[in-house]
Amino acid sequence: MQTIIEPFKIKMVEPIRFTTPQERADILRRAHYNPFHIHAEEVLIDLLTDSGTSAMSAAQWGAMMIADESYSGSRSFFKFEKVVREITGLRHIIPTHQGRAAEKILFSVMGGAGKIIPSNNHFDTTRGNIEYTGAEALDLVIDEGRIPSSQHPFKGNLDLAKLESLLDRAASQIPLGMLTVTNNTGGGQPVSMANIRAVSEALRRRGIPFFLDACRFAENAYFIKRREPGYADKTPLEIAQEMFSYCDGATFSGKKDGLSNIGGFLAVNDDALAEQARNLLILTEGFPTYGGLAARDLEALAIGIQEALEERYLDYRHACVEYFAQKLRAGGIQIVEPPGGHAIYLDARAFLPHLPVEQYPGQALVCALYETGGVRGVEIGSVMFGKRDPQTGAESYAQMDLVRLALPRRVYTQSHVDYLGEVILETYRRREEIGGLRFTYQAPILRHFTARFEPTASA
Ligand SMILES: Cc1ncc(COP(=O)(O)O)c(C=O)c1O
Repeated sequence: MQTIIEPFKIKMVEPIRFTTPQERADILRRAHYNPFHIHAEEVLIDLLTDSGTSAMSAAQWGAMMIADESYSGSRSFFKFEKVVREITGLRHIIPTHQGRAAEKILFSVMGGAGKIIPSNNHFDTTRGNIEYTGAEALDLVIDEGRIPSSQHPFKGNLDLAKLESLLDRAASQIPLGMLTVTNNTGGGQPVSMANIRAVSEALRRRGIPFFLDACRFAENAYFIKRREPGYADKTPLEIAQEMFSYCDGATFSGKKDGLSNIGGFLAVNDDALAEQARNLLILTEGFPTYGGLAARDLEALAIGIQEALEERYLDYRHACVEYFAQKLRAGGIQIVEPPGGHAIYLDARAFLPHLPVEQYPGQALVCALYETGGVRGVEIGSVMFGKRDPQTGAESYAQMDLVRLALPRRVYTQSHVDYLGEVILETYRRREEIGGLRFTYQAPILRHFTARFEPTASA
């Protein structure tokens, strides 16, 4: 059979509330043109994030009922630890309430002023946690990774020549190197096994530990299976195990390929680092066998992380994203090609060529999609990664202005995607009516979450 179907039946449903375009225009105004401020109830199809929004399986819900909520030494923790250890091969498995908590702990120990932490692209919370310690978060993704139309199969790869030259001049300042798999900031693009191996070797040759930001490790493993010679006959689990075999540690948000609504971990091999991390964990997250989570969350994670590696699930997941991409391509919409693992990224500069970067075309497009069809996406561009110089007030802008439409896992059906296609094409048809935005408020870090805007035309 040619049709890839959802490898599950739907057992429980949640109604969605319909709104009119006029209501949505009012809602947008009240939300200061930042969809993070919109109530989820006022969203028809929510593609704000694939993080923490998965539908859990009956097996996960069932396991939650038998969780052991003991403060220390919970049975649920040991189950979780065993599963994570089997996949990652890493020695110390430290649960955290989500990915950024693992980052905060890792960089509190290993970051600091004068240090540089290279990666393909750091995700915003990773960058925030690094910079908060005074260290520099350096993005070294390959050039193709910055070109939305490039068809490179592994656009998340790190540029090895740039890494070598950094190591030649600043190895002593680098406490660790990272790779984000898949590369969320760069379009959810995968990293090849060859690149993971080469980055690991380059760092380890200089005695520098190598970490994976492994939030979407299963989706990355699937791309390796589909695209990299030599991996077609391996299971996603075997591929994931090889990916982790090259690293000395990993941060993980269980809200993505953990198919759970909360949770994460920091996993490391180094005993001394693990001890320092656990001490910080106790300070901010909780005892090392629950790390800020209820044991039922650990149960859900232990199962979800295995379900995320099931090949039929990954076939279906990939087919969803590809089906969505085909609809947009057919309508002449420029997206980041080839589509990544968890989202479609619209090229907002190509969508709204009449808006200069100073008017935040990505944010303007996010708002327009909401107004047209109640669809919520997120800007991944100059709002998220640009900066205002605190001294001069001058703004800097990102290399690309994208709109990410992240697909929650196991949540929406094919007709939802058909509707999404219609909304985006309708927005494209009336693109010339879409105006720009300017900031009326921005926080000094991670400004996109709380920013407020107004239309430039209202001046
Ligand atoms: C690549 C990447 N790293 C880290 C994080 C942070 O994870 P969390 O949201 O669980 O803190 C995210 C979340 O979206 C992510 O996509």
